[in-house]
Amino acid sequence: MSVEKITLEDPLDMHCHWRQGAMLNKMVPLSAKIFAGAMGMPNTNPPIFSLEDILEYKRAVEAAIHFEDNFQPYYTAYFQPNMSKEYLKAIKPHILSIKFYPKGKTHNSEYGCSPHDPGVLESLSNMEELEIPASVHGEADGFCMRREYLFGSIYEQWATMFPKLKIIMEHISDRRTLQLLVKFPNIFATVTPQHALFNLDAVLGGKLNPHMFWMPILKEPEDQEAILNAIMGINGLACVKHKLMLGTDSAPHPVDQKECACGCAGVFNASITLQLLAKPFFDSGKVEQYKMFTSGNAKEIYGITPPKKTVVLERVPSVVPDRVGVTVVPMLAGHTLEWSITEIRA
Ligand code: DOR
Ligand code: ZN
Ligand code: ZN
Repeated sequence: MSVEKITLEDPLDMHCHWRQGAMLNKMVPLSAKIFAGAMGMPNTNPPIFSLEDILEYKRAVEAAIHFEDNFQPYYTAYFQPNMSKEYLKAIKPHILSIKFYPKGKTHNSEYGCSPHDPGVLESLSNMEELEIPASVHGEADGFCMRREYLFGSIYEQWATMFPKLKIIMEHISDRRTLQLLVKFPNIFATVTPQHALFNLDAVLGGKLNPHMFWMPILKEPEDQEAILNAIMGINGLACVKHKLMLGTDSAPHPVDQKECACGCAGVFNASITLQLLAKPFFDSGKVEQYKMFTSGNAKEIYGITPPKKTVVLERVPSVVPDRVGVTVVPMLAGHTLEWSITEIRA
């Protein structure tokens, strides 16, 4: 019997964290190996604010890419209130979007702001005029399980006020968020493998597992199921399947900052995501939709043409390593995945 197989062209990761320094030098080649392109988030410390910050980050990322990997990195800047048109015009050629961080809601978000701060609407209005998309970590104040839902009214307000602004709801986690994709033509979303495949039990249902802890926190089985169905286009929300893009939210932290009393949110998963999601898409007969979710939709939404890269997945078991580099424990460390990457042609 022949091996079951999926061939992906130019897979893209539209949301990942490469960090800085030694961590960046480790992470960038891992994205570059299996993706044709990936978008690096700006929540470094200090964050990527100015044109100079962007150019410096670009130099660091580009220096870490192995030429033969034929990889296009994409960049973002950290949202600030009152961004002028001059500033936005200067950074536009170097970025794909600007990332909004709600203050205090996730890693390095103390440099962020409240959606109600003065100058936020001014920035969004200028971004709309200059056609720069807004990538949004959408979590509002409130109970952690409800934070994304509570941010919904902000998404509604922004999408209504700025109908030409492309708003990307990053790493969606709540089934109610999917309705915004139906309601607003200018709202899109990224989806992580973790929010499509796991619920809160993965963190708290047995022994406390910090390696399944990230923000937004995993939610109920119904949320996971609705998100998985939406990316596969097999439920009542098939009308939004072209608006959903893969964004792994791969977010490495050194193991001592995960397995301590105040563990950081975020887990490295870039190297296992394509294998992990191969199973549900293949088993549901949705391989064409897998190609759109991992590439075609992002090309269309962001208007990008990444370099050519073919990634072949086969239903052959692979074991997730215990460590990536010296300090990073990947998502599902030590677990056996049903699928493997068996060939990459760059
Ligand atoms: O869990 C998370 N980790 N969520 C985010 O939004 C940021 C990320 C990080 O940078 O560690
Ligand atoms: Zn985020
Ligand atoms: Zn993120």
